[in-house]
Amino acid sequence: MKPLIIANWKCNPDTVEQAVLLAKNIEEHSGNKKSSEVVVAPPFVFLAAVGSSIRKIKLGAQDVFWEGSGPYTGEISWRQLKYFKIKYVIVGHSERRVHLGETNEAINKKVLALLGHDMNPVLCLGEDERTGDIAKSLEVQLRKALSGARKNQLKNLVVTYEPIWAISTNLGSKPDTPDNAFRVSLHIRKVLTAMFDRNSADKVKIIYGGSVNSNNVASFIKEGRMQGVLVGGASIDAVEFNSLINAVSLISRLK
Ligand code: PGA
Repeated sequence: MKPLIIANWKCNPDTVEQAVLLAKNIEEHSGNKKSSEVVVAPPFVFLAAVGSSIRKIKLGAQDVFWEGSGPYTGEISWRQLKYFKIKYVIVGHSERRVHLGETNEAINKKVLALLGHDMNPVLCLGEDERTGDIAKSLEVQLRKALSGARKNQLKNLVVTYEPIWAISTNLGSKPDTPDNAFRVSLHIRKVLTAMFDRNSADKVKIIYGGSVNSNNVASFIKEGRMQGVLVGGASIDAVEFNSLINAVSLISRLK
């Protein structure tokens, strides 16, 4: 399985010119790397321009609305994303949960809409503090987000373990350790197995997010056995992001 590297540009950059430049730079330097699957998720307003400036790397989105169309002011539907040939869509990011009040119920509808239309939800789960029953809190988020999903849909699912305290823009943040990320990924897979079955749970890609950069990405993929990474801050700097992709391709060459 090729590691999946998803660039979450969040609410950056400011202009379409900057967005296209960033995408082209990544495409040019990393588009030929066969060892990973690279997805860039720009803000919605830049999807058209970024989409037409890339061929080898893929276009993703940062959110979705669960209906195909209709009276939903301000929303962007799964059908509109499909028009741009988007498959990977970030859902339930902690910044949306915290700043925009996104609930587990809304996240569940988004995940089901994507799975139901042969798209790939990149479902984000994470605890806000290092204390407390983290295993339980992740289990609750996972069970609610996947309620009503069918086991044959799990092959399209990506789960991101992204502890909120590890996100680079949060005060005092630092990345999790690869060891801990690995332990959490085992827990996530155990819950998926209990909800569905072993075979379907094994098909889910589990990736890590939270202060991933070109220096630590290899340890998350190698020691942490993560199947990919979700990258925020380091993905809006083309030089840094290209070295991150490079670091991943070096591990696969060493295997
Ligand atoms: P970060 O963000 O890489 O800047 O920590 C990751 C994310 O929030 O998706």
